[in-house]
Amino acid sequence: MNSTNLHSRIIGSGRCLPERIVSNGELAANLDTTDEWIRSRTGIGQRHIAAEGQTSSDLAFAASQQALAAAGVSAAELDLIIVATSTPDFIFPSTACLLQAKLGAKNGAAFDVQAVCSGFVYALTTADAYIRGGLARTALVVGAEVFSRILDWNDRSTAVLFGDGAGAVVLRADNAPGIEACALHADGSQAGILSVPGNVCGGKVIGSPFLQMDGQAVFKFAVRVLDEVAREVLAKANTDIEHLDWLIPHQANVRIIEATAKRLGLPSERAIVSVERHANTSAASIPLAFDEAVRDGRIRQGQRVLFEGVGGGFTWGAVLFRF
Ligand code: UT7
Repeated sequence: MNSTNLHSRIIGSGRCLPERIVSNGELAANLDTTDEWIRSRTGIGQRHIAAEGQTSSDLAFAASQQALAAAGVSAAELDLIIVATSTPDFIFPSTACLLQAKLGAKNGAAFDVQAVCSGFVYALTTADAYIRGGLARTALVVGAEVFSRILDWNDRSTAVLFGDGAGAVVLRADNAPGIEACALHADGSQAGILSVPGNVCGGKVIGSPFLQMDGQAVFKFAVRVLDEVAREVLAKANTDIEHLDWLIPHQANVRIIEATAKRLGLPSERAIVSVERHANTSAASIPLAFDEAVRDGRIRQGQRVLFEGVGGGFTWGAVLFRF
């Protein structure tokens, strides 16, 4: 391999959703909400919820096994593992280290990235930089979340929006791209519009352990930055929306996805939508949607795909690649 012309390519993907499916109707039995409200405002019809004791590293492990099998790569070949999560198993060690142990991998670095719903594009961009810089050759990048643990199930404005799951991809160094362009951004001054403003201190929870959100502020912010960052990476790669096969934005709300596609001038059928069945799985949402679309044959080798994330921090970013 020519080390002066290194790129990274996605060579396999996998996903894991907890068995238990909770419909909107089931939520409406205990909350002042309706299936009609949830569907019309968000496009969400159901979500998967982790079993008691099932953790982000458990979901990450199952998704990673699928991704490694699809890539034809063994755990021993991995020299980098990055897990994007805001719902880690522990404060430490990282979920990536726990995943590494479950996989029986030992060779190389393992760490978590915390950028909430942008976590997967942050992790993928980081892995791409490691590979292009010659620091890693075969990387596993995972988004894994159990957001059900940080929801106040009595708060209808947030409880209906999220679900649990994990998605994984294997990246490998190659002389051909692969990943063509990445962009990451953050604006910490917007931290207050989406947060879990709590901590554990001296054995007690300080602040709140539950997700809080100004839904309308998040909605407006998301639509603006998803448009901007898509244009930014397309320009970086000297291409345009005409040459894009698939858009996979963060799956939070079908109205945000449709508004983003419209602003970009992309026909809405070229945006992959899985939020109806998964709800918002934060860092897991993009790799979950990607793996589904690869396995059902929509996304094919050689096609150009754009991942876009946006979430708490505030953070946002995009990764443009050829599959
Ligand atoms: O990963 C990034 C994370 N989050 C997002 O991307 C979310 C972005 N924001 C959104 O998707 C939308 O803002 C929401 C779906 C969260 C809310 O939709 P909205 O159209 O902005 O509704 P709203 O917050 O303005 O609320 C409208 C009404 C309120 O009642 P009043 O004050 O008009 O009487 C809410 O109390 O809807 C009420 N409401 C509900 N009603 C039934 C809020 N949640 C519910 C609910 N069921 N679950």
